[in-house]
Amino acid sequence: MPKAISSYICQQCGYKSPQYLGKCPQCDSWNSFVEQIESRVKNLESRRKQSRLSTLATSDSQIVNLSKIQKTDYKRISTSMEEFDRVLGGPARQSPDGSSRMAGGGIVPGSLILVSGDPGIGKSTLLTQLALNINKPLAVSDSLLAAKSEQRKANSSSVLYVAGEESAQQIKIRVDRINPKASFSILSDTDVDNIIEAIGAAKPTLVIVDSIQTLQTQDLESIAGSVGQVRECAHRLQLIAKSLQIPIFLVGHVTKEGNLAGPKTLEHVVDVVLSLEGDPQNQFRILRSTKNRFGPTDEVGVFEMEEGGMIEVKNPSKLFLESASRRMEAPGSAVAATMNGTRPLLVEIQALVTKSFLPMPRRTGSGIDNNRLQLLVAVLQSRMKLPLFDKDIFVNVTGGLRVIEPAADLAICLAIASSLNDAPISSKTVLIGEVGLLGELRPVRFLDKRTSEAKKLGFTKVISSENAKSLSEAVKLVLGK
Ligand code: TYD
Ligand code: MG
Repeated sequence: MPKAISSYICQQCGYKSPQYLGKCPQCDSWNSFVEQIESRVKNLESRRKQSRLSTLATSDSQIVNLSKIQKTDYKRISTSMEEFDRVLGGPARQSPDGSSRMAGGGIVPGSLILVSGDPGIGKSTLLTQLALNINKPLAVSDSLLAAKSEQRKANSSSVLYVAGEESAQQIKIRVDRINPKASFSILSDTDVDNIIEAIGAAKPTLVIVDSIQTLQTQDLESIAGSVGQVRECAHRLQLIAKSLQIPIFLVGHVTKEGNLAGPKTLEHVVDVVLSLEGDPQNQFRILRSTKNRFGPTDEVGVFEMEEGGMIEVKNPSKLFLESASRRMEAPGSAVAATMNGTRPLLVEIQALVTKSFLPMPRRTGSGIDNNRLQLLVAVLQSRMKLPLFDKDIFVNVTGGLRVIEPAADLAICLAIASSLNDAPISSKTVLIGEVGLLGELRPVRFLDKRTSEAKKLGFTKVISSENAKSLSEAVKLVLGK
């Protein structure tokens, strides 16, 4: 097969060059060249023929009216992990005993799903568990029944794990840790075109690629992991996923700057982006959807990293609040009711205020946005007249959780005021509210859901914009000052 022609294109101005250039001669930007295939259409045509993917015919394109299209509900594949299904999104379903509604959802066939996260956070572990859950060989008792191949297909489901990063041996060790009796198929290859051929031949129920940065196509000269390679490989996998209706999970590493390999390259190609977050020192792991074409975003699933893999956490609020500081009613501890997607989550916010000996006192937040912390400290200083100008301030969200909602503002402010005054907040009080620049308390969305979750966990006093109009009123209500 003839080699595809590639060239380097400046991502800023579109200048084209036959070889890599450090600086663009047209727009003067540095490191902006990315290798791209010139004759993508021709090349893909030959690929399709080669891997017999002619189902993807482009010749019969036609215009249709939306009213002619029948609405079909995606038949989602459950991951057998409720927390995972919740993040993937989908309609709720009845629990097996019929008493309550569980978070429904699952994997949409033909979707391309990216799982990103820091190295060592547990991406491979979570996806190995997923593979073990989905891979169901035909039960022996069914084998007589399933003489017809159609029936066999319906009764069994298979997973193909493409290992570009680790050897089969290493994956075996991981599987043994999680469930020594279970198994699935592994393909150790990094050539995306070979992988696509293998998928076309085996037609598995689900494919997991660990990781996209290790894949490459011979049609590009740049090394595996470069923006050009990552984009082209993901694009080719997208085509096979859609044409064969096989969902594909891609593992993607996050760079030092917090970007997914390449400037958000992958996020545009895939249907769903899930990020696995957590503090490596802590056992909690949060799976968050940041893009989802088939469900809500910002939904979270909570797991605990244990010796035998990731364990689902069914009642995360309770677990996050089980710290010793809550039991002791220590000064500097406050509880916020946050929303993550459709789920309320109660978290403890701790603050420590100490005398500073630095010309520029420190304001350090972990689990919250540092700019937001600066702003709230400024409001406390100027609207509440709290003497914070010569104090170091440290704020931490316990459990390694990241809080991105302004609804946690009130809890952050009160944790700081509580630490400064050495006055504890009652362990039965929960704080909900966004703080404005004028020191006013703003209403937040889903107050009912947050309040009922707090009541469920035994909180009796809810402070929000309903009963306090400003930050100073809230401080009076909570600390009595
Ligand atoms: P891994 O899934 O390899 O991370 P990633 O693919 O995101 O780089 O997980 C790495 C860590 O998880 C490693 O330090 C060992 C730990 N671990 C457990 O605690 N329990 C387990 O069951 C497994 C398989 C790993
Ligand atoms: Mg890994």
